[in-house]
Amino acid sequence: MKIYKAHILFTKEKDRFEVYENGYVAVGDDGRVTGVAKNLDELDCDGAEIVDYGDKLLIPAMNDMHVHAPQVHNQGVAMDLELLPWLQNYTFPEESKYADVEYAERMYRRFMHTQWLFGTMRSVVFGTVHTESTRILMKLYQEAGMGALVGKVAMNRNCPDALCEDVDAAVEGNEKLIAEFGGDSHLSPLTSHLSPLVRPIITPRFVPSCTPELLKACGELANKYQLPVQSHLSENVSEIAWVAELEPESKSYGDAYNRYGLFGQTPTIMAHCVWTKGEELELMKRNGVMVAHCPTSNFNLSSGMAPIRSLLDEGVRIGLGSDISGGHDLNMFRMLVYAIQVSKMHYQLNHDKAFLNLSEIFWIATKSAGSFFGKVGSFEPGYEFDALVIDDSVLYPAEYSLLHRLERFIYVGDDRQIVHRFCRGKEVPEPKVD
Ligand code: GUN
Ligand code: FE
Repeated sequence: MKIYKAHILFTKEKDRFEVYENGYVAVGDDGRVTGVAKNLDELDCDGAEIVDYGDKLLIPAMNDMHVHAPQVHNQGVAMDLELLPWLQNYTFPEESKYADVEYAERMYRRFMHTQWLFGTMRSVVFGTVHTESTRILMKLYQEAGMGALVGKVAMNRNCPDALCEDVDAAVEGNEKLIAEFGGDSHLSPLTSHLSPLVRPIITPRFVPSCTPELLKACGELANKYQLPVQSHLSENVSEIAWVAELEPESKSYGDAYNRYGLFGQTPTIMAHCVWTKGEELELMKRNGVMVAHCPTSNFNLSSGMAPIRSLLDEGVRIGLGSDISGGHDLNMFRMLVYAIQVSKMHYQLNHDKAFLNLSEIFWIATKSAGSFFGKVGSFEPGYEFDALVIDDSVLYPAEYSLLHRLERFIYVGDDRQIVHRFCRGKEVPEPKVD
């Protein structure tokens, strides 16, 4: 067991921060928190080593719930098109390069290094259609000691030949990765204490990229191996109209996934949901589907403003995603800021609903998002210790309360203030990058 002393802040509930000034958190050998307290004698931990971080802040690590690792080279460029032409003109040509495993490894190292810098210890990631490159990405996460659900992307229509894979090959590629990285659900309470940090996730790209046969095969894989599912949903108006044409029998875009067992039959996360309402919203709630809110991507691809306050009030599960390279920023702390700003735009249009406050968005980014990985995102006993130590000494901490210090780090800080990173109780060293 180890004990960490610092100013500890986390969100057990969405409405307020738990703040332990000069507090202690005890972490067992299995990487789980055993207690958090103001005084050492409140913890049952005689003889445990104490690591004293002095005046620094100790907070839960970040979770990026929707991100495309193979789009890292396009990060911050090609912002002049909306979703569908952006995919065809910029994204698909870049992803085609991942047939080359050397290119893939170089870019994936670069991508993960940036995630590490910004304190993102868990991710839900899209790879590409290429099995071998996706395997490399999973190996790199394993080596780094960072948690990830990684998807080999399924796509077989409306894309260049280089990214088109037939159904049998898609199933075979997935089964190869499942054989190597494990299939039965990492979320099972019976096995979660043994679960590997890196697991496959079934990843149909989105309805326009997948024939009904491929969607059906994806649903069968998710069910057979009890694996989670990720995809895109109701992101952009032109995309939604296209899905309605492609899937006339479906009652909604979400229903098009649901019909194939890809909408909460196993743990499911859907990116964007900017335009989700009515029947689709009811289905999400009923099936416990999580939304990955991607505010920068929704701005850059001119997709819209996701109504996160409404979704939160409806009880929908939510996390935050960078969605690079639709999004431009891998710093998840800045994503909290953007999400608050989007909700303030909604408030401008309708004063009936309050905009998000800091504890709500912090809870969404940590404990709510973390629930997709098991018990992650809080320092309550039983939670896996995913944590960051923040040295904000350059931000004039003596002049601010602890909560304002955290707020300032989120708004104006960056990776230079993150001095230690932990994933499941283990300190994560800087991964190698070319
Ligand atoms: N929909 C299908 N593919 C993508 C993608 O790569 N990025 C975004 N933002 N939306 C998508
Ligand atoms: Fe995306």
